[in-house]
Amino acid sequence: MSDEKQRKIGVVGGGLMGHGIAYLFAAAGHRVCVFEPSPEVRSSMPRRLQSIVELLDDDPELLRRIEAHDALVPAMRDAAFVFEAAPEKLPLKQKIFAELESAVAPTAILASNSSAIPSTEIGRQLVHRERVVGTHFWNPPHLVPLVEVVQNEKTSGDAVTRTMDLLRQVGKTPVHVQRDIPGFVGNRLQHAMKREAIALVAAGVCDAETIDIVVREGFGARTAVLGPMEQSDLVGLDLALDIAEVLYADLDRTAGPHPLLRDRVKAGKLGMKTGEGLRKWTPEQAEEVRARLSRFLAEQAKVRKKHLANSGCGH
Ligand SMILES: NC(=O)c1ccc[n+]([C@@H]2O[C@H](COP(=O)([O-])OP(=O)(O)OC[C@H]3O[C@@H](n4cnc5c(N)ncnc54)[C@H](O)[C@@H]3O)[C@@H](O)[C@H]2O)c1
Repeated sequence: MSDEKQRKIGVVGGGLMGHGIAYLFAAAGHRVCVFEPSPEVRSSMPRRLQSIVELLDDDPELLRRIEAHDALVPAMRDAAFVFEAAPEKLPLKQKIFAELESAVAPTAILASNSSAIPSTEIGRQLVHRERVVGTHFWNPPHLVPLVEVVQNEKTSGDAVTRTMDLLRQVGKTPVHVQRDIPGFVGNRLQHAMKREAIALVAAGVCDAETIDIVVREGFGARTAVLGPMEQSDLVGLDLALDIAEVLYADLDRTAGPHPLLRDRVKAGKLGMKTGEGLRKWTPEQAEEVRARLSRFLAEQAKVRKKHLANSGCGH
């Protein structure tokens, strides 16, 4: 057992992301303390964690390594790493980080899972800003391998290295994002595609369902094993340039969110939760999409777990 493995991991917030982050560290053998202020959310944690055990056919004993607490400072004391997954509000996150600084050693890593708030801002009032880093997990964090490790203007190289080492050790795929920019890397790529997809529907080129089929059954079918840079090099940059010359001038350049998106939101068409968004959804269809996604990600996670165990890095 390595030193890092014997250390305690803190998780702040036991909601959607927090409970999954707690699970993945516990599954890898760490002791995890979760601070969650809401009694309802705290009391639902065992059930939510148990359903992950069942989804992944894991040993339920691993849940013994997770403790839920109702106070931040005692829960986080002596943690070597703290992952914050509290609501997406800057003053709240700043307050949490200020309290964390008084609870942990100056060398402990303080990581925020914020999707959009720069960790530069979250850590602005701290004394030891070099150990504040962004760790952008993807939902669900116990199933999606990628974690974007975002270095802000104050984060030390050592903090980035230690965070990436820990994430690799628990079976994640960390990447180093060298600047703290909005959307990091993954969401910028994802939203660049969504922007064009919405514009195509608005222009009447195809309907929203067709967009999903084109992505899932077309380039999406190979995206899990072939990234866009590999794909460009595979077909040749001369071809990539020829296509770019013809296509780029024709791609959507609407400034700001597309009117179609604004109009749907204004009309209360928010997606599956209201029965209609870009597409129409019955509750059964929405459930089928969720189940399909969960099944697929769980199968992938089980395969990765097997590879990890076979390579001798597993737990
Ligand atoms: N949901 C996603 O897909 C996703 C993906 C990546 C990153 N994130 C980010 O992760 C963070 C958490 O998002 P979520 O979806 O898990 O939200 P969530 O609402 O499910 O969970 C947040 C939890 O924090 C708790 N909380 C409230 N006040 C708190 C406090 N003062 N200290 C600690 N905990 C407190 C809440 O009770 C809640 O259980 C956000 O910053 C979000 O932007 C979310």
